[in-house]
Amino acid sequence: MDAQSTTSLITGRKMPILGFGTWQLNHQPVETLLEAIKMGYRMIDTSGDYGTQAAVGEAVKKCKIDRKELFIVTKVEETDEAYSATKENLNQLGLDYVDLMLIHRPPKNGIGQELWDGLIKAKREGLTKDIGISNYSIEETQGLIEASGVIPAVNQIEWTPFGYSFEMLDYCQANRITIQAYSPLTHDDRLDDPDLEELADRYGKTTAQLLLRWNLQMGTVPIVKANQKEHLQENLNIFDFEIAEEDMEALYSLNEAYSSLGGSLSYINKQGGQGEF
Ligand SMILES: NC(=O)c1ccc[n+]([C@@H]2O[C@H](COP(=O)([O-])OP(=O)(O)OC[C@H]3O[C@@H](n4cnc5c(N)ncnc54)[C@H](OP(=O)(O)O)[C@@H]3O)[C@@H](O)[C@H]2O)c1
Repeated sequence: MDAQSTTSLITGRKMPILGFGTWQLNHQPVETLLEAIKMGYRMIDTSGDYGTQAAVGEAVKKCKIDRKELFIVTKVEETDEAYSATKENLNQLGLDYVDLMLIHRPPKNGIGQELWDGLIKAKREGLTKDIGISNYSIEETQGLIEASGVIPAVNQIEWTPFGYSFEMLDYCQANRITIQAYSPLTHDDRLDDPDLEELADRYGKTTAQLLLRWNLQMGTVPIVKANQKEHLQENLNIFDFEIAEEDMEALYSLNEAYSSLGGSLSYINKQGGQGEF
């Protein structure tokens, strides 16, 4: 297993098991993306509102890796008209298609059925290979599926030992929805947690590596952001150890529905977590 290993989506398409996030990738984004791809990252996550789409597109063109080997994820906003926003995102990226287009978050009112219809159309026309959602609760996801008959390939949600949901995991597994785990390092908020440090020390790993590995063993797909080269490299060195079952249990027990983005997890408590991320 490595960063280029893949998991199968419900559509049969393959998606890398580790992603590189570009929210707040403010320092030399093109160079950092090229470095990340050179090191082995193959999935890149961006969004219409991150300001990094142009850099992602430039790196894709410059990296000398076959486009088919890369997996580009981006998002339309809840206030967008999804079909035209998809085209606008492709313009900013300078690409003919993306691999995965997500609804960034459910709109304040309703479940975003029109947004979903727009993405279904974009997929039919080949503008995106797969479509999915982000920050959706179980009820909202189920509503979209019942109204459209189309199951999202992915739900991208915040996911760490401090904030996750077995109910969501079970629901997604039953419906073959892959969970992409965002802010897997708690947005650098709790990497110095003493419980994490004690456990990471025992494996001779850093707390960041422990958190990413926890995700992999749960079958969720971490999307990790790093501007610093040492971090980029460190976050790839997670394929040479395994967290024992009792230590996975110890990590599960840390759950407090915590969100590093403020409030509580957006897909559990609709009052919390909605922001500019
Ligand atoms: N769908 C959504 O609503 C949503 C919301 C939030 C995030 N996301 C996606 O998920 C991605 C990741 O989430 P995130 O950016 O919030 O946070 P994150 O990946 O949990 O943490 C990033 C922070 O951790 C630091 N870091 C990275 N590797 C490290 C290491 N090995 N040791 C110590 N510190 C390390 C980074 O520092 P440096 O940058 O200085 O290296 C940065 O400050 C985003 O970039 C975005 O693509 C999606």
